[in-house]
Amino acid sequence: MVDNRVTFGSKLGVILATVGCAVGLGSIWRFPYMLGTNGGAAFLLIYILFMIFLGIPVMVTEFFIGRYSRSNTVGSFKKMAPGTKWCWIGYNGILAAFLILGFYAVVSGWTLEYVWQTVNSSLYSTPGVDFTTGFDNFSSNALRPIFWTAVFIGLTHFVIASGVEKGIERASKIMMPLLFFILVVMCVRSVTLPNAEAGLVYLFKPDFSKLTSSVVLSAVGQAFFSLSLGMGCLITYSSYFGKDTNMLATAWQVTIINTFVAVLAGIMIFPAVFSFGIAPSAGAQLVFITLPNVFEQLPFSSLWSLIFYILLAMAALTSTISLHEVVTAYIHEEFRMTRKRAAWLVSIGVFILGILSSLSFGLLKEFTIGGLIFFDALDYLTAKIMLPLGGMLTCIFVGTRVDKKILKAELTNEGTIKFRLFFIYVFFMKYVSPIAIGIVFLNELGLLDQLKKLF
Ligand code: TRP
Repeated sequence: MVDNRVTFGSKLGVILATVGCAVGLGSIWRFPYMLGTNGGAAFLLIYILFMIFLGIPVMVTEFFIGRYSRSNTVGSFKKMAPGTKWCWIGYNGILAAFLILGFYAVVSGWTLEYVWQTVNSSLYSTPGVDFTTGFDNFSSNALRPIFWTAVFIGLTHFVIASGVEKGIERASKIMMPLLFFILVVMCVRSVTLPNAEAGLVYLFKPDFSKLTSSVVLSAVGQAFFSLSLGMGCLITYSSYFGKDTNMLATAWQVTIINTFVAVLAGIMIFPAVFSFGIAPSAGAQLVFITLPNVFEQLPFSSLWSLIFYILLAMAALTSTISLHEVVTAYIHEEFRMTRKRAAWLVSIGVFILGILSSLSFGLLKEFTIGGLIFFDALDYLTAKIMLPLGGMLTCIFVGTRVDKKILKAELTNEGTIKFRLFFIYVFFMKYVSPIAIGIVFLNELGLLDQLKKLF
């Protein structure tokens, strides 16, 4: 296919952009929150298994589709299977990206509030207000979190509309390692707190009696969410990969980095949770009420806190950019709308969703969908349903519609890189991944129990 689509400048650029898209609030905020509400170590174990056996094959498959077809999420399915319904995988992805932004932008906004509170020193010096109460007061406030959500969407919009992604990627070359360094410092501080062992036991000693169908579904959801899979984000990114990009190496490197960051986040959070007597199942606020306690125990606490929240906000920004870009690129390319206008449409839509998500911690607390507040409902619908479903269908698509010779040629860059495990990959992509996801769904719906009763 000859075309003049832009490609990433360097090998490092590819890794950076993809890592930037994957590493974000997913591993640092959502992972500890999910682990805490799903009973601890058993979740970690299942999550790691899913990262390796589901995450890598699905990621390689998305890379294949993107670079082979060189177009956006919907366009790629239209190109590869014209006139069929497969492009619905793409529509599912676009909608998922939009809905994810609707709650992700709110949490990103929280990180800005914490930057602000560190700067004006109200976070560490308000007498009589502990960090839990402080967070509750803030998140249930009608205007403040919405203001920060707006600021964050504004930042994302600015990057998308003015095309300065390159600068951001370059900056993250310095920021990501720095974030990593602070995570390690925080881990050391956390594990040396009194009663830290209880947290490590909670994180690493599995109690299999806690392993329910909803824990397994949560682990699948977390694996997809944190690797940015199942919605074509990586299809869009890989459509910009160069012909010599080693997609196999990129896939496992991104997965390892991401898993590592998540485990570090766990080591940073859980010993502190037990040491300060916080409930591990506190929910979405877990990281925000735990970390300030740890910062307080470090020398120069405000400085660490400031740098950490700025870096976390940047990590979130490289992820919101990827989500925004998927929707903007689609509207721009398919509806022949200018990029600017498409970007505005997305930003305004996301802001409306963001208002509803943010208010669901206060004013709209009583308004629930299937027992979940609006924020949680968006999270549930996307991470636990739309992404795994998208991933499953993507595998079925490539497994049934693509000639294995083409697949192998693309993944090995026309035979220039070795892919000894090709058959194992195909086996996983074609059978294991879709069947595993299918079973997890059936299990969660309780259908498996019904079947068991029949036999
Ligand atoms: N993976 C990112 C994180 O962990 C979030 C994200 C970016 C994402 N793009 C995505 C999640 C696409 C699902 C799909 O923070």
